[in-house]
Amino acid sequence: MATTRELQAEADTGAIAFSVNGRNVVVTSSPQQRLSRVLREDLGLTGTKVGCDAGDCGACTVLLDGEPVCACLIAAGQIAGHEVTTVEGLQRSPAGARLQQSFLAHGAAQCGACTPGMLVAATALLEKNSAPNETEVMDAIGGVLCRCTGYRKIIGAVLAAQSTATTETSPVAGDAVGRRLIRLDGKRKVDGSEIFGADEAPTGSLAVRAIRCPYHRARFQFGDLDGFVHDHPGIQAVLTAKDVPGKDCYGVILPFADQPVFAHNEARYRGEAVAAVVGEVDIVEALDPALFPVAWEELPALKNIDAALAPGAVRIHAHREGNVLVCGRVVRGDVDRALAGADITAEGEYETGFVEHAYIEPEAGFARRVGDRIEIQACTQSPYMDRSDIATILGIRPEKVRIIPTAVGGGFGSKLDLSVQPFLALAAWHLGKPVRMVYSRTESIISTTKRHPARMRLRAGCTRDGKLLALDFAADFNTGAYSSWGPTVAARVPVHASGPYYVPHYRALTRAVHTNLVPAGAFRGFGVPQAAIAQEQLYDDLADQLGMDRLEFRILNALDDDTPTVTGQVMGEGVGIRASFEALRPKWQAARKQVFEFNSKTAGPFRRGVGVAGMWYGCGNTSLPNPSTVRIGLKRDGRIALHQGAVDIGQGSNTIVAQICADALRAPIDRFDLISGDTAITPDCGKTSASRQTFVTGKAAHMAGTQLRDAILAQTKSCACASIHFEDGRVTVQEKNKTHTLALGDLPLDEHGYVITTEATFDPPTSPLDKDGQGLPYAVFGFGAHMAEIEVDTELGTVRVLKVTAAHDVGRAINPTLIEGQIEGGVAQGLGMALMEEFFPGKGENLHDYLIPSAGDIPSVESILIEDPSPIGPFGAKGIGEQAVIPTAPAILNALHDAVGIRLRKVPATPDRVRAAILAAAKGDRRG
Ligand code: FES
Ligand code: FES
Repeated sequence: MATTRELQAEADTGAIAFSVNGRNVVVTSSPQQRLSRVLREDLGLTGTKVGCDAGDCGACTVLLDGEPVCACLIAAGQIAGHEVTTVEGLQRSPAGARLQQSFLAHGAAQCGACTPGMLVAATALLEKNSAPNETEVMDAIGGVLCRCTGYRKIIGAVLAAQSTATTETSPVAGDAVGRRLIRLDGKRKVDGSEIFGADEAPTGSLAVRAIRCPYHRARFQFGDLDGFVHDHPGIQAVLTAKDVPGKDCYGVILPFADQPVFAHNEARYRGEAVAAVVGEVDIVEALDPALFPVAWEELPALKNIDAALAPGAVRIHAHREGNVLVCGRVVRGDVDRALAGADITAEGEYETGFVEHAYIEPEAGFARRVGDRIEIQACTQSPYMDRSDIATILGIRPEKVRIIPTAVGGGFGSKLDLSVQPFLALAAWHLGKPVRMVYSRTESIISTTKRHPARMRLRAGCTRDGKLLALDFAADFNTGAYSSWGPTVAARVPVHASGPYYVPHYRALTRAVHTNLVPAGAFRGFGVPQAAIAQEQLYDDLADQLGMDRLEFRILNALDDDTPTVTGQVMGEGVGIRASFEALRPKWQAARKQVFEFNSKTAGPFRRGVGVAGMWYGCGNTSLPNPSTVRIGLKRDGRIALHQGAVDIGQGSNTIVAQICADALRAPIDRFDLISGDTAITPDCGKTSASRQTFVTGKAAHMAGTQLRDAILAQTKSCACASIHFEDGRVTVQEKNKTHTLALGDLPLDEHGYVITTEATFDPPTSPLDKDGQGLPYAVFGFGAHMAEIEVDTELGTVRVLKVTAAHDVGRAINPTLIEGQIEGGVAQGLGMALMEEFFPGKGENLHDYLIPSAGDIPSVESILIEDPSPIGPFGAKGIGEQAVIPTAPAILNALHDAVGIRLRKVPATPDRVRAAILAAAKGDRRG
């Protein structure tokens, strides 16, 4: 057999020969082409992911002659005669194969977008060092970013790869809930076969590329678009607002919809699309957007809340007076009188900035027109919402639109909004050819939604024995140029800004304010993490004034089953906040002692601190319907089809919903075939957001499973006590001494193609809020508390988080491994928000300048799962996705105050801000 070097010698000019995964290949490619591109496009090895094309994310890591490299930084010409190993080839390495198994067993792959790069980097380590320590593992994976897991489970998986044997995947019937099952979609994530948005497109697809405004606000005029197409062979069309056949106005909340696919005459933010070019892939990719015929006239822009609210400010949307999109309000009791009578009061003003979602997978997908229908396959958190918006844009009925979600390489809220979908739909619709679109990292950052910057002012009061009396909270949120989820943030924050405490007198007023900046939307918590940063620091100030232990202050004021919330809701049961705080108590006391000893005995610049913060978060929409419908069908072969439309964005709903359904039916989980997300074949399970899928879709799955069980029992005339056994081609029902058998092959099929189909819908019971925000906004809340232990270098202003202990009331831990994964990932995002992450539109629009935590930034995380069951949730379960991120940042900021006595008015607490605050404090000003 010829060696790759011999093959290269024989290859024609322009051909490059090398070995990939032990196979000799020859590709015809420009020597300057990126190896990542050659692997994915020429060889179909799409397991290698592209997150940035700039060497920043490590998603594209492959082995080149056994050494890990970023394939996006290696030119094709450099690999001639060399050996490349991708994730698809890791099975050939004993270390790689063990790692894949260990990643599954430890829940180390969530969305899976970073997983190939992580596995490859870890394989390189283990092939040289079979027993690495934690530091060596962190170093080895340090160049690969993960936005989901918080790295702990990845580190654990690498450390344990030597010892991992097999892990149970299929418990007996009725025993799935509560088990640490391997995620059902996990194998594809570790072997590289998972299909993300950019991984698939019909052969011959054209490429779509948006032309975007380079200014925060600009008027524009097109030149000769026909001439441009004519002069550029390979470009087939240019699309603009004139090409939108339906209504050119979409938005996630219909009454506030305000966003056009393409700006009309004036672009309202930097990154807004004004046109799209469609053509052959190489031509479109090589196009210099500066050559596109458009003339810009930069206009004065409103770049912050003050400018937007200033009297006489230009209205960004003509019908929104004062640039206020919407206001939120919750009022209870008499806050002014209570504050006037309070023994102790504290007040503060806090600011947070834009935070970028920074999922590793940029937005991508393809579309094709099929007669009078359009099909879009793309990464999304909300297929049915996409369907309805695309139907509006195209001016066709929703049934004519099919949305097929791919695996989602992280979403965290931003992939609830449309991104590539309208461009793809319009291009495929007009050209009648399949088209694909992949956002670059910069395009993703400049054009997709962010966490809302917040400016919050608040004042709280309590009695001298520590009982909270009142909180007065007011906040403005910078919602950017379009509405997106601004109304949700403005409505949700007033309900939550009290924290999980009994506050008898309360006023929370919010505004979402338009500016000429990138739209702010949904990001894990919908504004509640920002509010918690303010409120939890203020409550520490109250406790300090009282001379009271900060944790005991929280326990004293924690909500109980029978105390009303600030909207007057009395939950009756399932309020696990006190239990969460109490679970921290022994660790808190020990940590306080250790901090005191360290600070007393240690000379030099280092000071330690410990902080605590609590949180609550309502699962699902605020006082609005948000039903999920699940269908299950008994097949003739004895298997069970589970149609659930909840998109798994890495959090694990594919597995958790199946666990719930399996136990409701009392069938083994390996009997289930999952059918997820496709609007043509799954009922609507709503959007994956607001921590609603375990609760809402899980409940619907529980109901559908129970109904199928009842239907089988009815068909066999058996009692409820009977046991059902699913076998190949038949179902056997055992009832005392009687056995009934359903020979499935003999039974007729229903309209869905099943022997028996059941379908159930669950919509959480809530009530509208009145003019003072009183009512029942959520049927279920999740509760939790975090404790952060940190070390501050007072000379450099750097903060190192040593440990986070996270206690969460999850109602029932359906899959503890997946829940821990959510907590650890939430802690990492909270750490980023507290210490390093702030996006400035127009600056640092890449993953080099915009920093997210890497493996080296991550502390140890101890998760404590509290199970105070929800009376409504499936098996008592509550959500955890958003809950996990909320208390981390305030706990860290409280620890910072504990360590060095400063409160930062503005987060993140970057070293320059911390250092400046320390210096100011030394001069007597304790607020940065
Ligand atoms: S895609 Fe190569 S480092 Fe990000
Ligand atoms: S699992 Fe690492 S980025 Fe999603």
